[in-house]
Amino acid sequence: MFYVFSNPQAIAEHVSELLIAQIQKKNDSVLGLATGSTMEPVYEKLCEQVARLNVDVSGLTTFNLDEYIGLGSEHPQSYRYYMRQHLFNRLAFAQHRTFLPDGLCADPVKQCEQYSGQIQQAGHIDLQLLGIGNNGHIGFNEPGTSFGSRTHVVPLTEQTRIDNSRFFDSLDEVPTQAITLGLQDIMESKQIILIATGTNKAQIMAKLYESPVTEQLPASVVKAHPNAMILLDEQAAQFLP
Ligand code: F6R
Repeated sequence: MFYVFSNPQAIAEHVSELLIAQIQKKNDSVLGLATGSTMEPVYEKLCEQVARLNVDVSGLTTFNLDEYIGLGSEHPQSYRYYMRQHLFNRLAFAQHRTFLPDGLCADPVKQCEQYSGQIQQAGHIDLQLLGIGNNGHIGFNEPGTSFGSRTHVVPLTEQTRIDNSRFFDSLDEVPTQAITLGLQDIMESKQIILIATGTNKAQIMAKLYESPVTEQLPASVVKAHPNAMILLDEQAAQFLP
């Protein structure tokens, strides 16, 4: 389940090939997407290979994992903005089937219910990409989140806000809440690929490797999935036994 690659580029190439194989097998696939630094080389490589191989992405439906509450789609740190910049504006996606929670929605709780429902109506996610936080979160499911959780509103932990403050002018500007897909929604995906790169993920990956499946380490739930892969570069794998 744990696969070590020499560097982030090698992971990006492999994941991009897996995504293209999925699209070629089923051109109306439902993809589960993540944002963050880990995904940037993956999307870069995917854009390059889709263009080179002339892959048709127009039949895809995508659901992102999460969005900050309080940031609109034009805010440069919103995840909708990130996705447009790194993927959606670069390939011929059917934009109306690229779903993210709306950070400015008047009734976030109702929206959460609808979001989980939309994924179920789409027939569940065929392939879910995940990054991992330094505290073991996936999406914004922080330690202690129930494995039975559906899309929900979360207060962000201080650690997550500090980690993400590098993208904002100051810590004060980092939103305090987000909407995230729940762990049960994630686990209903048919296939999961979790990616970790860089030395700052080395400690959590050693912990994940040793850990039983426990709500104290949300990413550990992936180890209980029948069709999941955890891909690490050598830096993130440095403390693995
Ligand atoms: C982002 C997300 C987060 C990130 C995680 C790692 O949509 O769901 O769980 O995957 O925080 O972020 P990076 O890749 O920036 O280290």
